[in-house]
Amino acid sequence: MANAKGKRLVVGISGASGIALAIRVLELAASHRDVCELHVVVSNSSLRVAMSELNPPGSTPAAILDHCRLDDAARAKITIHANADIGASIASGSCLTDGMVIVPCSAGTLASIAHGISRDLIQRAADLTLKERRRLVIALRETPLSMVHAENILTATRAGAIVMPPVPSFYAGQSWDDFLDHFAMRVLDLFDIDIERDDLRWKGTNGDD
Ligand SMILES: Cc1cc2nc3c(=O)[nH]c(=O)nc-3n(C[C@H](O)[C@H](O)[C@H](O)COP(=O)(O)O)c2cc1C
Repeated sequence: MANAKGKRLVVGISGASGIALAIRVLELAASHRDVCELHVVVSNSSLRVAMSELNPPGSTPAAILDHCRLDDAARAKITIHANADIGASIASGSCLTDGMVIVPCSAGTLASIAHGISRDLIQRAADLTLKERRRLVIALRETPLSMVHAENILTATRAGAIVMPPVPSFYAGQSWDDFLDHFAMRVLDLFDIDIERDDLRWKGTNGDD
């Protein structure tokens, strides 16, 4: 753990469809006892997507966070950084974190990460997460995939990232809520954060192992 008080994670929200995924990850992470800090960065394109996907529309990062069901203690764990602020704490490898998740991740942000472009805070924080050999989870939301996307997935994976598209697990419930919970649980599993939803885990074909 990067901090004795608990896990410190960076959450990037880029301009792919699926703001609901980010909201559920933030809700579950911020409410978890093992998490002490969440550093959130929202791209401009994500704000455009949030205008389409949230009701009421989220036109600012704070407005997106307002959609998260959080008590005061959980909300206090969250710091919002401007995506243009490449001087933010999380732009430096000297800021110890337990890693970063980009959820949802656009094909554009994946391409920038795969090629080390680092033109904004999300890209820079991802780049340093790779260079520091920390956990980087990329929830790429695009379909179908072109050869360009496939090659960028391969490049990012070779650099140490885990590319994790939001694919439903059809065994873990049938509802939208089940999908969001299951996906967020599997993201947090990758940071050794157990949200204790055993009902969403595969139990074996007999249900007893
Ligand atoms: C409503 C909406 C939905 C979008 N959905 C996706 C998507 O699912 N995947 C994707 O790669 N790009 C998607 N885009 C396009 C990206 O937002 C665009 O490529 C943008 O430049 C990405 O910027 P960012 O990676 O800095 O956030 C969408 C755009 C809009 C307006």
